[in-house]
Amino acid sequence: MPTANIYESPRLLDEYLLFHFAEENDIFPLNGIPYPKAMREATGFTKRTVGHFKQSPIERGLDLGCAVGASTFAMARHCAEVIGIDYSHAFIHAAAQLQQGRDIRYRRHDEGHHFTELTAAVPDAEAGSRCTFEQGDALNLRGDLGTFDRVHAANLLCRLNRPVELLKKLPSLVRPGGELVLATPCTWLGEFTPPEQWPVGSTAEWLEENLQNHFSLVKSTHEPFLIRETARKFQWSSSLVTVWEKSS
Ligand SMILES: C[S@@+](CC[C@H](N)C(=O)[O-])C[C@H]1O[C@@H](n2cnc3c(N)ncnc32)[C@H](O)[C@@H]1O
Repeated sequence: MPTANIYESPRLLDEYLLFHFAEENDIFPLNGIPYPKAMREATGFTKRTVGHFKQSPIERGLDLGCAVGASTFAMARHCAEVIGIDYSHAFIHAAAQLQQGRDIRYRRHDEGHHFTELTAAVPDAEAGSRCTFEQGDALNLRGDLGTFDRVHAANLLCRLNRPVELLKKLPSLVRPGGELVLATPCTWLGEFTPPEQWPVGSTAEWLEENLQNHFSLVKSTHEPFLIRETARKFQWSSSLVTVWEKSS
């Protein structure tokens, strides 16, 4: 029997709405728990990865594996048009609803039977009006998608069953002189990616091997991120962020 896509589940939808749109006070409410400073520093990941692009205005942006859309909305601050694509119908439905100015009520899980209702809203309606969201497969993109000045794919590679195919496709998506930001926590798992498709050497070497013929590496850094499961259980991860410029 095929395994259900976890990114369609109501629990993950709630966790991602919190991850993408909640204020720090909603992630760490005053509940007596002494959350370490490093956890607070791991918030705002969707904006921080987009912050690695130049801040100049450009025409077209693409956010692959955009989930519920916060990084797409952040890219739109400097783009005339941004397309966010994700495989999850539930995530794209939520992103499109926010883009249309409709707030979303969702639940933060505190513990056991205890939940807190919160509201997600588009952070900047003017920038949001330049975004569109579509359900799609990053490994099978529609043929008329066109080319982009900026492509962003955060924490997507290690959720694909054939990640190298996305690396091979990227040169045809990024315009000459255009920018590419890839983030990956390198959490290679058999449930998403068969082990024979995992990088043989380090993920950083594998990115370089597959991209160097078309892109030059501008920067390699690390960005922490935090996904809250309950008041007392969080996933803290560190994503390898590489910034590339497409050869002219
Ligand atoms: C770990 S989440 C990261 C989401 C978002 N970029 C972020 O940083 O919060 C992985 C995302 O990739 C999406 N995804 C998985 N396989 C995909 C595919 N083949 N094409 C497009 N999106 C995919 C999932 O639905 C999920 O939203």
